Amino acid sequence: MKLNHMRRLVLVLVMTILGFWIEGCHCKIVQFIFGDSLSDVGNNRYLSRSLAQASLPWYGIDFGNGLPNGRFSNGRTVADIIGDNMGLPRPPAFLDPSLSEDVILENGVNYASGGGGILNETGSYFIQRFSLYKQIELFQGTQELIRNKIGKEAADEFFQGARYVVALGSNDFINNYLMPVYSDSWTYNDDTFVQYLTGTLQDQLKLLHKLGARQLMVFGLGPMGCIPLQRVLSTSGNCQEKANKLALSFNKASSKLVDDLATQLPNSSYKFGDAYDVVDDVISNPSKYGFENSDSPCCSFGNIRPALTCIPASRLCKDRSKYVFWDEYHPSDSANELIANELIKKFGFVRVDQTNAPSPAPALAPAPSPED
Ligand SMILES: *[C@@H]1O[C@H](CO)[C@@H](O)[C@H](O)[C@H]1NC(C)=O
Ligand SMILES: *[C@@H]1O[C@H](CO)[C@@H](O)[C@H](O)[C@H]1NC(C)=O
Repeated sequence: MKLNHMRRLVLVLVMTILGFWIEGCHCKIVQFIFGDSLSDVGNNRYLSRSLAQASLPWYGIDFGNGLPNGRFSNGRTVADIIGDNMGLPRPPAFLDPSLSEDVILENGVNYASGGGGILNETGSYFIQRFSLYKQIELFQGTQELIRNKIGKEAADEFFQGARYVVALGSNDFINNYLMPVYSDSWTYNDDTFVQYLTGTLQDQLKLLHKLGARQLMVFGLGPMGCIPLQRVLSTSGNCQEKANKLALSFNKASSKLVDDLATQLPNSSYKFGDAYDVVDDVISNPSKYGFENSDSPCCSFGNIRPALTCIPASRLCKDRSKYVFWDEYHPSDSANELIANELIKKFGFVRVDQTNAPSPAPALAPAPSPED
């Protein structure tokens, strides 16, 4: 009897161990997001000395309960919309006090921080922000937490199965290279600065691969010379061609970089996408896309321009869905939806719950083009 009992125990043990090896981690597929104010969902709210804040009304007016939530828009970010389309949960901000191992395993983490750039020195006048290297450092801390919670094997599987978003670069130009207070503006010229920036991005993307990132999307830049702030700083009120040229040059170089990395790095699916052309067209032909205004912010402080941020005393435009820009820097929810649909077309992804299906999943139908 005793022997039988022992045998059964051993059998159960062997099966448990086998089961563990065969089935591995029953982890959910979640996202880890690295970015700037275009993807921040609340980190800067907890950086009390940061000057890049979206913590006052009317930020968030078209999101959830309408109160500020840390997003630098009236509604959703581009990453929100893309993640929703993939069927992925929206990851909470890294500094959200409710973040725990269980929350991370269910939802992932968003490290994006307003004012942050690819370069450490970018956005220093905001005093506090997470640059991309800092965000990756925080991600390494997250990995340590999860390894301690579920073990190394399962953690490796969890992080290799996750989806990654890297969306930075605008601040490296607007709040660094294009501002004479920053030494990068006199150390480099247009070409050498773009090389320095994409060289740094290359090291960061390789580091993320070393840390387990396999499925990663890099978002390119839009025509940043056409944000209301850049227009109001030009004497003519037109877009700043120099800034737009830099965005195109960055997109070209980083698109090549990401394609090269995708072939070099084992088991990687690294993709680059930008919405430059579509946004450029919306700005020139807003009515074609259902917009009425593409050159000034919906939230502004009377005739005082540029208003650095949207504040409770600001006035809002009548119909927020008709404005391309929410404030001097950031697109509105409606514009973000258009940008997200364009990126979805470029990335050509399928819903995550279909990706793991045994039969080949049908490709997501392309989003309708504006001409339709
Ligand atoms: C950038 O900052 C990180 C810390 O966030 C640091 O480890 C790294 O050495 C810095 N890199 C450069 C080039 O200054
Ligand atoms: C690539 O995938 C194969 C098969 O799943 C695996 O054996 C190998 O360890 C992976 N390599 C890396 C670097 O992830």
